[in-house]
Amino acid sequence: MILEINNLSASVEGKEILKNVNLTVKGGEIHALMGPNGAGKSTLGNVLIGHPDYKVTGGNVLLDGKDITFATPEERARAGLFLAFQSPVAVEGVRISTFLRIAYSNLHPGEKIVISEFNKKVKSLMKTVGLDESFISRSVNDGFSGGERKRFEILQMMILKPKIIILDEIDSGLDVDALRMVAEQIRSYLNNDVGFLIITHYQRILKDIPPQFVHVLVNGTIVMNGDKSLSDKIEEEGYDWLKEVA
Ligand SMILES: Nc1ncnc2c1ncn2[C@@H]1O[C@H](COP(=O)(O)OP(=O)(O)OP(=O)(O)O)[C@@H](O)[C@H]1O
Ligand SMILES: [Mg+2]
Repeated sequence: MILEINNLSASVEGKEILKNVNLTVKGGEIHALMGPNGAGKSTLGNVLIGHPDYKVTGGNVLLDGKDITFATPEERARAGLFLAFQSPVAVEGVRISTFLRIAYSNLHPGEKIVISEFNKKVKSLMKTVGLDESFISRSVNDGFSGGERKRFEILQMMILKPKIIILDEIDSGLDVDALRMVAEQIRSYLNNDVGFLIITHYQRILKDIPPQFVHVLVNGTIVMNGDKSLSDKIEEEGYDWLKEVA
């Protein structure tokens, strides 16, 4: 699987946020996207999954060569794209078991789901991500702690089995054990057909799963591409020197 972002520009509420973003994520690769607060990182994630508030004003997005720039969120998900949200929202009155089953069956139309088997699988993955199995009958993210929400994002990834995975600050608000679990799951999920775009402010997760590529977004534009050493430099020196480049 390959995600190609070509000269992508996008706006929200009539304001141009992304300007000519170019980025390619191939199966087998881990990319880190860094950048100061408000640079447009989450906006990029939202544009990629087709959030209706974000309008593409230029460029395109290809998934395995297929143009998905204006595809619906469902079409993108079916094509293998997944975004773990920076701030996952609560869906009151929708149980986790129902939510996951509907999401799964949307991605696998025609596949017969045996509910008891499906729930068994969900419970076993809950154990893996460190959520008590009683969560299966709770409403999605309703009353969840910050870390529980992030754990549930990882659980969704494991159930839905996407190919291009964008993790927007999955590491913020996680305790050390959860961080280790997330890094482990990313490592074991990675293969030649799966690529990751990890949006983060922190070195910690990048130590556990070293990215081959690091990109820095400033003011809606990628101002620098590099390898892991670029994230080390940012840790030491911050973003000011890159703002000058921009
Ligand atoms: N739905 C929206 N309505 C209005 N403004 C928005 C919306 N989404 C994003 N923006 C604006 O776009 C800019 C980029 O926001 P974005 O969330 O993409 O930043 P970010 O790089 O993810 O920052 P952070 O590191 O703080 O998460 C900000 O100025 C933000 O206020
Ligand atoms: Mg963000």
